[in-house]
Amino acid sequence: MKLVVASHNQGKLREFARIFSRLGIEMVPQDDLCPNLQVEETGTTFAENARLKAMAVYRATGLPAVADDSGLCIDALNGEPGVYSARYGGEDLPHTEKMKLVLARMEQVPRKQRTARFVSAICCVFSLEDVLETEGVCEGWIGYEPRGTRGFGYDPIFYVGEQSYAEITDEEKDQISHRGRALAALDQKLEERFSSR
Ligand code: IMP
Repeated sequence: MKLVVASHNQGKLREFARIFSRLGIEMVPQDDLCPNLQVEETGTTFAENARLKAMAVYRATGLPAVADDSGLCIDALNGEPGVYSARYGGEDLPHTEKMKLVLARMEQVPRKQRTARFVSAICCVFSLEDVLETEGVCEGWIGYEPRGTRGFGYDPIFYVGEQSYAEITDEEKDQISHRGRALAALDQKLEERFSSR
């Protein structure tokens, strides 16, 4: 099966490619078919934004499309940056600076209150009436400093246990991550969908 992935984010696309190849799904990056399509993320939930992106790419290509909308929700910051994770501090602000902003706002927050979670909502559109949706969550906490060089985005400040997302291997991240879990749930729904036909 071939799915167009509605994203321009290289970090995300690498994770989709890794996980889809294990699931036997062929991935076509949106940039191969409609590189100039930009979708405004006007939703207030991850699920709404995932649907907006997948629908837009489905309409533009006529092919089954899948999108993830994801972000980091920090309890001590009332759930911020949440759906605005990519735009936090300004769309063009690099993640090294976004992380500094988060750490500065968390300076006085003790360990017990540094809880956070990554959330991924996935929407897969086969037609206007045939849509599959899943969600994955990974619980963790915000460290006191960035650690590790792997991954992308906020990975160096998001810790699960004593290691940050940027310190664990790709395989370990795919096993426990929000996106890995949402994609595993999608795989399950795809299997059910195809076995019931
Ligand atoms: P979206 O492309 O609008 O879904 O925004 C996703 C944003 O959430 C990314 O640009 C990152 O800021 C953050 N994000 C989502 N998933 C991850 C991840 O696995 N690691 C680090 N940051 C992530």
